[in-house]
Amino acid sequence: MVVEIFDVKTGKTLPKKIEILAEEEKEDLLEEKHYMLKEILEQPKTIVKATEQEEQKLIDVALDMLRAKTVVFTACGTARYAAIIGRYLLSKVANKFSDVIMSHEFQYFSDSIDKDTLVIAVSQSGETADVLEGVEKAKEKGAKVIAITNVVGSSLARIADYTFYLNCGTEVAVASTKAFTGQLVVLYLLAFAAINKIKKCKDSVTEVAKKIEENIHQNDSVLKELAEKMKDKKDIYYLAKGIDFAIASEGALKLKELSYMHAEGMPAGELKHGTLSLIEEGTPIVAICPKDYTCKETLNNAQEAKSRGGFIIGVSDENNDLFDVWLKIPKVEEIYYPIVSVIPLQLLAYYTAVAKGNNPDKPRNLAKSVTVK
Ligand code: M6R
Repeated sequence: MVVEIFDVKTGKTLPKKIEILAEEEKEDLLEEKHYMLKEILEQPKTIVKATEQEEQKLIDVALDMLRAKTVVFTACGTARYAAIIGRYLLSKVANKFSDVIMSHEFQYFSDSIDKDTLVIAVSQSGETADVLEGVEKAKEKGAKVIAITNVVGSSLARIADYTFYLNCGTEVAVASTKAFTGQLVVLYLLAFAAINKIKKCKDSVTEVAKKIEENIHQNDSVLKELAEKMKDKKDIYYLAKGIDFAIASEGALKLKELSYMHAEGMPAGELKHGTLSLIEEGTPIVAICPKDYTCKETLNNAQEAKSRGGFIIGVSDENNDLFDVWLKIPKVEEIYYPIVSVIPLQLLAYYTAVAKGNNPDKPRNLAKSVTVK
């Protein structure tokens, strides 16, 4: 293809640099019925693709993170839940405190942003208006901006000082799945780059992807049966703690987007501060309790819900007497549990939408990318 740019008045060719952003990708459904299912099932591959990042760039950004007075993540929806996991990772792996601000609230914190702030913007599309507005404000204040995005050449990628792409291919379904796990992988790499362990992190993520591949169909019949039960419920609560907490919120977001049910994710310890009064006979509670440092306490909180009649759906690598239904995840290195725990929750949302007769690819009232304020 030849592209030339002319001055319309003089007809002369203008010496403009032409940048080819990406070959148009063809997304075929092949044997899957919906894009969402196809994108969920692609994750063992896309997770590995997301590790393909330039090592020097990871190191440079990690050093900027460590040097910055303040590190702030900004994002919306699913991308914000990835950012919350990024925050836990920075603290746990690199001992660096950071914060996460929803992009549409970012402007109200701009007084505290300055040239010593590093802003990490996470956005699948790179076109979310709220994200772009926040990032532009941060740049005006002299902050450095890092983008984690999927769409090559997106507005966010063009504004940022450094950009990491997810390499996971076009995400067609409105509900974000493979982009979320791709965002997590980049955040893991950044946290481990800060302690000089990029290679180790890449190897661990590749191992995690293999385990997901082996596990991804293991819960199929349990999930389909559960979805039939769930479709008539009004409310559902998702509990988790520590690094797994954002997976509770992400599981709830997936379910409400697609099934139009009320779903709420929360840190398990928050249950007794109010929500417990809503639990009655048969209320579904998803307890995300992989065998990590959060497990014991999350199980204690789930027990409180169970004794009020809660129906407990456990997401774990080990079964427990408390669970009415067990969604099995593979055993992985402790810090990587969020990547494996989200998969059965994506599938649960998918199958519940299908059981209700909803189109999981195009939920009502929602757009793939929110480009208006
Ligand atoms: O393109 P972005 O990542 O900036 O989009 C942010 C949210 O609008 C998006 O994650 C939304 O919450 C998804 N539909 C969730 O599945």
